[in-house]
Amino acid sequence: MYCGQKLSERIYWTGVYDRRKHLFENMWPLPEGVSYNSYLIKDEKCALMDTVESGSDRSYLDWLADTLEGRPLDYLVIHHMELDHSGEIENLIRQYPDVRIVGNAKTFRVLEAYFGKLPNLVEVKDGDTLSLGYHNLKFVFTPWVHWPETMMSYDTTDGVLFSGDAFGMFGATDGGVFDDQVDFARYESEMRRYYSNIVGKYSGMVQKALAKLSSARIGAICPLHGLVWRSDPARVIGLYDRWSRYEADDAAVVIYASMYGNTAQMADHVARRIAEAGVRDIRVYDVSKTHVSYLISEIWRCRGVLLGSCAYNTQMFPLMENLTRDLLHAGPKDRLLGVFGTYSWNGGGVKNLNAFAEQIGWETVAPSAEILGRPTCEKYAACDALADAMACRLKK
Ligand code: FEO
Repeated sequence: MYCGQKLSERIYWTGVYDRRKHLFENMWPLPEGVSYNSYLIKDEKCALMDTVESGSDRSYLDWLADTLEGRPLDYLVIHHMELDHSGEIENLIRQYPDVRIVGNAKTFRVLEAYFGKLPNLVEVKDGDTLSLGYHNLKFVFTPWVHWPETMMSYDTTDGVLFSGDAFGMFGATDGGVFDDQVDFARYESEMRRYYSNIVGKYSGMVQKALAKLSSARIGAICPLHGLVWRSDPARVIGLYDRWSRYEADDAAVVIYASMYGNTAQMADHVARRIAEAGVRDIRVYDVSKTHVSYLISEIWRCRGVLLGSCAYNTQMFPLMENLTRDLLHAGPKDRLLGVFGTYSWNGGGVKNLNAFAEQIGWETVAPSAEILGRPTCEKYAACDALADAMACRLKK
């Protein structure tokens, strides 16, 4: 007998936690694991909302069967075909061969690509509805949040939104499944890291999705990762709205690449000078020590961004180049930028950071600061000007 978690009389959380996996999409660190959420609506008809990653928890189908208590599974609704949610479809169909699979035309193209031609497909269009008895699902297409086929289901009876990847987060929660069972402050940074690295590139589409849902009375949000929002869904909607509009705190993040500590000294000098000017929220990171996903997340949070690189083979330091490439890919907007760095015999770090500044289109607050060799007091004038300009803009 499994300990089912109920959202309401007929809706069960049937998700799993994976604390063994190290990298989400084989790329993003998972120090606290990840959850794959799935939900069972046990109504006159029974509908499963998505599955979980294949093999993430071998008890998943047992748990589902236990929750169904011998009833047939009438529908599988697929909101998102990425394999962290669709991986168990094959096993599910083996166990419930008559289940009808609900998705849109794009869903079914991807479904066939992974699992071959499957029977019992029910294609829905944007705005179509499906009655389960008490609950009535309305399908809301939300393309690119996070794949092109992505859609949400809105239960018009109780205002429950099954939101796909939207409003999800990294991390397996510690005991609590619902937002009122945890202190969200502990999880917010992992939600922002998930947003900025997985969904953030599609922020324009997130805004479109939020606009589409704006007239809906949302009583609860059931995402495919992380907490289920039954008490304060407005809070997470507010965060998504803010992040997808690139709103940021009046904070500074200083990220540097340094081989022998010279550019690191510049970074600390700049950060101290900004602190002396009265900015309290400052973070300093060594790009060689902190995974790029955390850096992107900080850049999503901070309006002021200071990037420093030594020269490396006449280029930027490779890990800084990796960060800038990811930033161009993710495309956060409306940041203030400062650039600094060192060189020994020829430039490359600062020159290429300035090229990045042009490409990303952020406003640079002052000319870049570049030092030949060891940073000494008499070489810091440009750094001081950069720090002062950044502090002045952040305090405005
Ligand atoms: Fe959680 Fe885009 O998959």
